Amino acid sequence: MEMETNMNAIVEARVVSKLYGAGETAVTALSEASLAVRPGELLLIEGPSGSGKTTLLSILGLLLRPTSGQLLIEGQDAARLPEKALPRLRARTFGFIFQGFNLFPALDARDNVALAIRMKDPKVRSSVARAEAERLLTMVGLGERMHHVPGDLSGGQKQRVAIARALGGDPPLILGDEPTAALDSKTALAVMDLLRGLTREGRGVVVVTHDHRLRKYADRVVRVDDGHVEELRADALAA
Ligand SMILES: Nc1ncnc2c1ncn2[C@@H]1O[C@H](COP(=O)(O)OP(=O)(O)OP(=O)(O)O)[C@@H](O)[C@H]1O
Ligand SMILES: [Mg+2]
Repeated sequence: MEMETNMNAIVEARVVSKLYGAGETAVTALSEASLAVRPGELLLIEGPSGSGKTTLLSILGLLLRPTSGQLLIEGQDAARLPEKALPRLRARTFGFIFQGFNLFPALDARDNVALAIRMKDPKVRSSVARAEAERLLTMVGLGERMHHVPGDLSGGQKQRVAIARALGGDPPLILGDEPTAALDSKTALAVMDLLRGLTREGRGVVVVTHDHRLRKYADRVVRVDDGHVEELRADALAA
């Protein structure tokens, strides 16, 4: 079988498998999965609970090493890189968003974002990081709420802070693990609108979800079933 080449992919998994544990209790969480994410596209990953979605997203985002197969970051095989090079590559390439927001409760919105910017690149001065945080929060529509702590923000506003944080350092790819699951449906759609808007500047966005209503925001939909990854065809999506 000829392997499709994806020269312009931001990240590409090639025939990736992941086993957790060993021996009789080993679990195959991913089975020979292949997937490429290109600039400017929003990719949705659907599938039932326990099917391997978080495992796939974690491998794409260099949070987890596959048991076998290749993970290419802008064409470069991540397995050939020394372990100590990975955090920098991860920080430069990805912004992460999670269902539970994962904000620091004692820091206001601006400092949550500024801290993340400085964690990604400690050379950035704090005044510069704060100014950048203000710019990003304004961009996600939270210019008026920069000095609120997470406890004083709604779920949708917290997720906007998390999106601003993910955008710190200007990564080419945003990876979201059920970023709308904790939100009511109207707020979820507003967050998807925002994520969709990010692709217009050429950024890639990957969203894991259970929610079929999010399909309308997607350029491509991939389904994970019991560790097997399959792309849904456009005619299947309309059904
Ligand atoms: N650290 C781990 N150790 C052992 N097994 C794991 C681990 N993480 C996940 N698994 C197993 O791997 C499989 C895939 O898990 P994964 O978290 O990727 O599923 P998921 O599709 O994200 O599920 P959900 O929709 O519930 O979040 C499941 O059977 C799960 O129990
Ligand atoms: Mg999951």
